[in-house]
Amino acid sequence: TVTPTPIPSSELVLPPKDYFGPTDCYKFPKDFIFGVAGSACQIEGAIAREGKGPNQMDVWSEPGEPNNYVTNENYYLYKQDIERLASLGVKYYSFTIPWSRILPFAFPGTPVNSAAINHYNDLIDFVLSKGMTPTVTMIHFDTPLQFYGTNITSRQWRNGVMGVGSGAYGNPLFEDSFVHYGKILLTHFSDRVPIWFTFNEPMLFCDTGASVNNVIKSHARVVHFYKEVIKGTGKIGIRLHDPFSVPLNPQNQTHIAAAHHINSFHLDTFWNPLVLGIDYPESFKMAITDYVPLTPKDLAYLKGTCDFLSIQPYTASVASPPPGGIESCAKNSSSEYFPFCVKLQSTNIFGWNFGYRSYSRVYTTPEYLRTYLNYLWNTFRKPVFITEFGFPVFGEADKEVREDMLYDSPRSNYYLSFMTEVLKAIWEDGVNVMGALAWSFADNWEFGDYDARFGLQVVDRETQERYYKKSFFDLVGFVRDRHPNY
Ligand code: NOJ
Repeated sequence: TVTPTPIPSSELVLPPKDYFGPTDCYKFPKDFIFGVAGSACQIEGAIAREGKGPNQMDVWSEPGEPNNYVTNENYYLYKQDIERLASLGVKYYSFTIPWSRILPFAFPGTPVNSAAINHYNDLIDFVLSKGMTPTVTMIHFDTPLQFYGTNITSRQWRNGVMGVGSGAYGNPLFEDSFVHYGKILLTHFSDRVPIWFTFNEPMLFCDTGASVNNVIKSHARVVHFYKEVIKGTGKIGIRLHDPFSVPLNPQNQTHIAAAHHINSFHLDTFWNPLVLGIDYPESFKMAITDYVPLTPKDLAYLKGTCDFLSIQPYTASVASPPPGGIESCAKNSSSEYFPFCVKLQSTNIFGWNFGYRSYSRVYTTPEYLRTYLNYLWNTFRKPVFITEFGFPVFGEADKEVREDMLYDSPRSNYYLSFMTEVLKAIWEDGVNVMGALAWSFADNWEFGDYDARFGLQVVDRETQERYYKKSFFDLVGFVRDRHPNY
């Protein structure tokens, strides 16, 4: 045995003077929402059980590719999953209620599946019984298959003009059908669910002017129903994906203009009409020439139908103008820069590329999040909700649960540094940040693979056992130490 030699007090040193900074004293505002998120198609499995109809995600994987037939079996193991969150001290749980479970035949006039209503009633009640608050997303990529018609392969869905998928949102039956489904959800569940999201990342599945039009109109109709008919007092909004770009050279005016152009395309297209009640931006009209014009009556109806703005900051991009300038490729679909008309630079240290058309592959940093929070607050003056943020690790798709998956210090660093920037945005910049939902509460199916692991828990794919990762303790601990309501 070795006896440790005590360090003589003359050699003991104090930490450097700047060891603790002002951020160590910042607290979260008392109503700051902190929670964890997942989405049905990525965790539930049971894709053809208890009356569920087919949705796009059930046929997303090519034969041989990992699919979502089983994933985490959360449809059956939800109580265990919720209990594991509650015992760690999580207060908000964000999940999806899939349209294809509630309305297996998708369209208005078709039967409501009572097994599904019962299931989500149980789930919501269980969340509440554990002292947590549920938040619900109405559609998270899992569009009922009925909207796609026939004779179309999953690969085709991944090649939408603006994103990864296409077709369904542009279907002429979509708007009324989504409104019908949204009303069913609100009627059954809004007495216990105080936070609602209509769409998740809709632009990834929009490929025409009609599809964008259907998304914003159906969103607004559902929100009006919630506010005026149900008289809902909770919050409701829409979750956009992560397109925020910064100029390649922040000193160069044309680079600043390029970043502004692409940001306005992605953000103003939704926030202009839905928050401010003003028209689509020029960047959108320039690229999506078949856009459906918004009348003054439309704009009056759309205005104010978001209680918050959303951020899902996974990737960022660095923008500069294409050769010949932004105007040069407008309306020229053969230009390699069409439809965005901006050169976006990509470097991604994690190699995160799903194989679908990717135009922005620069990883986000904590400072990027703070800049984005400031940008949204200063532009639109609405509370900003970080509806997802998370850190993937790749190359761990093997079945065995190893120690280094559980001691995931890079993920801890990610969460703590991002949350620190949130605090700085609140206290140093005056941004109204409504909350943050960590993605995801457990490793899950990432659209074709199990390799991109975003989870705060590992899931053993053979036994379905869950294991907490260290980052989960670190993240919850960080919030608990700084949140008056924890
Ligand atoms: C955002 C999506 O909403 C979610 O489903 C996905 O898993 C994460 N991005 C990570 O790619």
